[in-house]
Amino acid sequence: MLFISGFIISWFINHKQYNKIGHYRSTFNIANISLYFYMQPDKPRFEDIQQAAASISGRIHKTPVLHSRTFNNETNSRSFFKAENLQRIGAFKIRGALNKIRSLSDEEKSRGVITFSSGNHGQATALAARLENIQCVVVMPEDARISKKNAAQGYGAEIITAGTTSEDRYQRAMELRKQYGYTVIPPYEDPFIIAGQGTCGLEIVEQIPDVEYVLIPVGGGGLISGCALAIKSKLPSVKVIGVETAGADDANQSFRQKKLVRYESTNTIADGMRNLSLGTINFEMLLRFVDDMLTVSDDDVVAMMRFFFERMKTVVEPTGAVASAAIRVHNERFKDKRVCAIISGGNIGIEDFCRLVINS
Ligand SMILES: Cc1ncc(COP(=O)(O)O)c(C=O)c1O
Repeated sequence: MLFISGFIISWFINHKQYNKIGHYRSTFNIANISLYFYMQPDKPRFEDIQQAAASISGRIHKTPVLHSRTFNNETNSRSFFKAENLQRIGAFKIRGALNKIRSLSDEEKSRGVITFSSGNHGQATALAARLENIQCVVVMPEDARISKKNAAQGYGAEIITAGTTSEDRYQRAMELRKQYGYTVIPPYEDPFIIAGQGTCGLEIVEQIPDVEYVLIPVGGGGLISGCALAIKSKLPSVKVIGVETAGADDANQSFRQKKLVRYESTNTIADGMRNLSLGTINFEMLLRFVDDMLTVSDDDVVAMMRFFFERMKTVVEPTGAVASAAIRVHNERFKDKRVCAIISGGNIGIEDFCRLVINS
């Protein structure tokens, strides 16, 4: 009953305030969004993102916003690139992992943490654990690249290998949790992880207060759900758009069908998008806060990586280039608009980078 009346009041306020502008509207929107989420305690609220920002401040970088006149001329847009490839560990993932680990009780910290990602989240969890002086185990696939193992080990994590699929890793992590009492640090479906990733959205609205569109890559949905909540709370008229590659467009399908779509497999060079579906909380937040979804091809992504390297002297991994590629591919939509794309990561080895870009 409480939930239903809260929802109705929230909807009513939301509906009424669309004609208002400026600070009043933004404050009102925060109250409105907060009311909606107080009714749903598994989801983060805007205040959780502000708390996350205070918790991780000084421990991570406030990343710069890059520009390119050539890109603006080519796309007839005014584009900005939020450079999370220059973040600690080379990707935004440290924001969520550190916020989550810092939220643990002393007792939980004393038992250590575990995660089951071979990618950026594994490295982020390893570094966050080291910063908080706690034990960390990362379960990786048996065929994980030695560079990835070395990176997580370099931050002091213990590496355990299990099978080759994400299911194998997840099962092994759950067994170890049961045996040793570790706390699991999930990659995207967790309110503290989402709030941590949302701090990137907070920085965007501070750094580009007149931004009109924000483009965000989507894997499990941690980055977009946190950033969309932050952006809509501060600047409700900004359009938030999720971007995927066509070979892994489960979130695009979920958004259009308004039901959580799960794929059997994906086919893309963007490895941060290879998960088969959004998380449940992430899906609900995506439906509520995201205005649209777009797709690009793997070739578009490689062309964008080449542009970043040649014209902007910056190294971007495939998933990190997906959102920016959408400005080029869908440029009629962004004509004369102030658009920010998140470069979500830059972790790619020289061999893989050359293989992709030289063969394009
Ligand atoms: C570089 C990069 N960008 C984007 C994503 C997608 O993030 P999320 O799973 O929070 O949607 C990932 C996920 O691993 C990633 O590594």
